Amino acid sequence: MTRFLNIAAGIVALAALGSASPRQRAEPAGLDAFISEERGIALQGALNNIGPNGSLVPGTSAGFVVASPSKANPDYFYTWTRDSALTMKTIVDEFLFGDTSLQTYIEDYIHAQAVLQTVTNPSGTLLPSGTGLGEPKYYVDGTRFNAAWGRPQRDGPALRAITLMTYSNWLISNGQEEKARDVVWPVIANDLSYTGQYWNATGFDLWEEVSGSSFFTTQSQYRALFEGGELAETLGVECTGCDEAPQVLCFLQSYWNGEYITANINDQSGRSGRDANTILGPISVFDVNAQCDSLTVQPCNPRGLANFKVLIDAFRNASLYPINEGIPQSSGVAVGRYPEDVYYGGNPWYLITLGAAEYLYDAVAQWKTQASLTVDKTSLPFFKDIYAAARVKTYKPTGNGTEFSDILAKVTAYADSFVAVAQTYTPSNGSLSEQFNKTAPGNPLSAHDLTWSYASFVTMAERRAGQYPPSWEPSVPAEVPAQCAASLTKGTYSPALAAGAPNVTTTCMSKVLFAVNASTYYGENVYLVGNTTDLGSWNIRNSHPLQSSNYTEENPLWFLQVDLTAGETVSYGYAKHEDCNQPYIYETTNRTLVVPACVEGADDVVVARTSDEWEGPDGSSGGCAS
Ligand code: NOJ
Ligand code: NOJ
Repeated sequence: MTRFLNIAAGIVALAALGSASPRQRAEPAGLDAFISEERGIALQGALNNIGPNGSLVPGTSAGFVVASPSKANPDYFYTWTRDSALTMKTIVDEFLFGDTSLQTYIEDYIHAQAVLQTVTNPSGTLLPSGTGLGEPKYYVDGTRFNAAWGRPQRDGPALRAITLMTYSNWLISNGQEEKARDVVWPVIANDLSYTGQYWNATGFDLWEEVSGSSFFTTQSQYRALFEGGELAETLGVECTGCDEAPQVLCFLQSYWNGEYITANINDQSGRSGRDANTILGPISVFDVNAQCDSLTVQPCNPRGLANFKVLIDAFRNASLYPINEGIPQSSGVAVGRYPEDVYYGGNPWYLITLGAAEYLYDAVAQWKTQASLTVDKTSLPFFKDIYAAARVKTYKPTGNGTEFSDILAKVTAYADSFVAVAQTYTPSNGSLSEQFNKTAPGNPLSAHDLTWSYASFVTMAERRAGQYPPSWEPSVPAEVPAQCAASLTKGTYSPALAAGAPNVTTTCMSKVLFAVNASTYYGENVYLVGNTTDLGSWNIRNSHPLQSSNYTEENPLWFLQVDLTAGETVSYGYAKHEDCNQPYIYETTNRTLVVPACVEGADDVVVARTSDEWEGPDGSSGGCAS
């Protein structure tokens, strides 16, 4: 079968791509037709991945958004706080635009998140200090995930708060202020407390790879805290943490390096910092009524536009992405996370290529709203690429020239050209995976039916159609302190009972150091598993990986600190595993430990230390780790 695909640079014939397609598009659709059809597919694609009735995710509890139905290569059958919040924000916005059938998803989400906030996990607990809220992902029934991961991730609570606040504002304008205050606000308040307490602490970025400070995270945190302060005032409640907003905004300014926005700072990644992080942030804080010079760094911001160009140009390089070869400077390309990316070979992502389009539609909407477009020295190179006559000046729609509308038309066409790239690589059944191959024919790669990819299509299509989410920016431009300070406000946390959270109480957890001498082959690892949920309920998939940083030939030590409930008697054991498709090797003994009392207010103190010797068979070298 040969299909014809429309790309920005022309019409190219490609060999059969993708799978059997229930909804064949025989002819290459024009962009409008493609978008109107795909928007419906995308919204349904996201809903298919949400419990309890999502058709692709059986077994998922109500209100949990699964990242992708893919259970292997990669296994994305989990619920991530970030992906869920961004997807539910899209669903709340669609609800506000009139799709009332979506309300049950939102109600389920509120309940699911209230419960999830109380789940003790490897990042910590809700009580007393909120640390558990930074956990990035859980099983799809809302239980904890114990394996090694880039944790904590501090964008999740902020993004969830933003989503819930958008819905709360709707409740307030629709006579349900009491529900907003009594049911939803307690969930939001925990997330804002967390944000106000930990915004200045390092954590992992949205790609779960770099530990440090991340632009996307800081930008979302500012929006959450500012909006939180406003909402609290409306509801007549206290927001603990929201007073930190000006400091967070102050910190946000420090990501600009004079040329572009550095995605990660205070990190050790050694990367250039050119990263789609910095365009996904602005589109998720987009406010059509905001000013372009707002310190919140809106899409039309001159630094944002300069950054956009630097980032996109990093992907124009055909030796990085062969499918971008020959695309002119004025036209959109396939865009990935960051040029150094190697995950699945480092390819373009749908949600980022679509995000680039959304970014530009957002900027156009802002210039239209303001009836003004200022090109300054910083943003000039961005404009020059698509409008050679651009000069440093302020363009207005009034007067006799047509330059203002010409520039807007050029930026809109530029946005469309990114969508056309995504269209080219969208299989005929409209399914969107995470990535598409950087090499022709640009086939889909990594997780299939990625919820976030679908959500990104919907938000892009909304902006293109002139549908904007509610405003949130201060009407008086926010100012920052003369001197940024590394402040924090200690949060107040409590289970959101009215939304259905269980009434958890402060448990002082006892830190136990598990230590076992176990000789292993290079590439072989040791895991801890036991009978309690904290220890993985004897499910090896949910075991804890031990650390080997003190391992020597004479002293083959594997260890891990785990927080356990004081007074509990636990059974546990170790397992060895080499990642060469060999089975786990289990100990032949069952161990018991009585967890000692905790030390109140000193949760870093190790109250027990095991000194175990491996009891069980030895593995054999699988030879795949060398
Ligand atoms: C590495 C990827 O780069 C990261 O983004 C991903 O979340 C994890 N692996 C897990 O799939
Ligand atoms: C990997 C991405 O890097 C991360 O941002 C995302 O949360 C997970 N996949 C799940 O989609």
